Amino acid sequence: MKTNSPLTQLAAEAAGCERCPLYKDATQTVFGEGLAPASIMMVGEQPGDQEDRAGRPFVGPAGQILDRALGDAGLDRETIYITNAVKHFKHEMHGKRRLHKRPNQDEIKKCRWWLDKEIVIVRPKLIVALGATAAQALTGRKLTLTRERGKALSLWDGQQGMLTVHPSSILRMPDETARQEAFAGLVADLARASEIAG
Ligand code: URA
Repeated sequence: MKTNSPLTQLAAEAAGCERCPLYKDATQTVFGEGLAPASIMMVGEQPGDQEDRAGRPFVGPAGQILDRALGDAGLDRETIYITNAVKHFKHEMHGKRRLHKRPNQDEIKKCRWWLDKEIVIVRPKLIVALGATAAQALTGRKLTLTRERGKALSLWDGQQGMLTVHPSSILRMPDETARQEAFAGLVADLARASEIAG
């Protein structure tokens, strides 16, 4: 992000966001990062524990899967814009561990304020929703992942979108074979995204 770019200014505004209560228990706002304009914008759910501490999206275990899948699909993370539907880490304490808690509709809606502004600045040809929460944030609907994934989705005003799995769903798979298949599916969707975005 260039200093004084519209994105830097937007990120600075978002750093003080109190639009929903999630800021209270989070370390910081985790804003999007990457190129603007960019032909592909990726939207995840919300920062995880490591992202919350680092202040950067997708730098923890899910980020490592995403980076590997991007590489296998022939995409370079440096050429895309990556953000989340919700910019604060929502979690529950289990002993000393902070466990991810899914954001609710109201939190997703409130945070759409920032996502809309990011989209205007990034002007992506294609927005890739990583998982159901991102898809809900972008469409206002609950989409069925198995039915809609990998296909071009018409979002609004001609904005093109695509839905694929969230990288952390691959981490949660019970065995190595299932993980490998799910990873190959993610790579195939990202390669298709690269084709669509040209
Ligand atoms: N999961 C997400 O959805 N986003 C991140 O930034 C990290 C994990």
